Amino acid sequence: MSKRLLEINQQIACQNKLVDYEKVRQDVKQILKQEGHDEYGHIGPILVRLAWHSAGTYNKLDQSGGSNGATMRYQKELSDPENNGLQVAQKYLEQIKQKHPAISYSDLWILASYVALEDMGLPRIEFVPGRIDALDDSKCPPQGRLPDPSKDRVNMRQVFYRMGFNDQEIVALVGGGHTLGKCHKEYTGYEGPWTEEPIKFSNLFFQELFNEEWIEKKWDGKKQFVDKEDKQMMLPTDLELRDDPEFRKYSLIYKEDNDRLCSDFSKAYKKLTELGFRQF
Ligand code: HEM
Repeated sequence: MSKRLLEINQQIACQNKLVDYEKVRQDVKQILKQEGHDEYGHIGPILVRLAWHSAGTYNKLDQSGGSNGATMRYQKELSDPENNGLQVAQKYLEQIKQKHPAISYSDLWILASYVALEDMGLPRIEFVPGRIDALDDSKCPPQGRLPDPSKDRVNMRQVFYRMGFNDQEIVALVGGGHTLGKCHKEYTGYEGPWTEEPIKFSNLFFQELFNEEWIEKKWDGKKQFVDKEDKQMMLPTDLELRDDPEFRKYSLIYKEDNDRLCSDFSKAYKKLTELGFRQF
């Protein structure tokens, strides 16, 4: 093992010994309910979005980006328009970091999203610690690596294939993720939840996708789709899960089989949050 690898190994071992991850889990659970954080009063969904955007910059060709480093703490990455709003999630987690200073931000962001998902009904995901925070913004990935909601299947595949995912994993991740939470006009220009139960993980997104008729919202805002009563919404990329023949195949399976979605989502989400990070 090279000297540098040995140093990293020792740093991780030391970091891991100092942190009581079970206690961190309990403390994160305590702060999930936040009255005043949008109309649902629960920060689970935004913690999942934080973890996904920190991990979703990964490029398998040169192993750059990914959750290791927590580089979104730096303006260079946070100012990517796709990350709007995520400073709010980072702020909520700061109190946990203060209480458990030895945990890296990069581990904390991922672990907090596992706690959030469990709280919202998904079986527990085993956490592997060991991510190390970057010391400056030199490791920030270039902007533009996250998917663009206004685009189509071509952009979606470019982004997710770059990370090493296949079509089935794309469908599980996007449709599973968008069961939760909502779009906030003040963050991204899109508005509304995808389902009627945004604080509960389920296959409801896929049921809505096929059962509702999605019509373009008439407003002076970004192009999005709504149901007849304008209560729920879909992004242009969400509708690709219905309209692309290969994505559709998996969406139909998940619409019928909640257990399969839970299991496939958990596997793909763990893979996503461990991209570019390996235990030495
Ligand atoms: C094509 C891929 C994707 C696109 C274009 C996309 C786009 C978006 C947009 C525009 C929002 C609204 C943010 C806001 O205004 O607050 C959002 C929210 C969200 N996304 Fe995605 N997303 C994608 C994939 C994913 C994946 C893979 C996950 C998780 C595995 C995910 C989880 C979430 C969650 C939980 C929220 C709700 C956040 C909240 O309530 O604060 N998304 N997404």
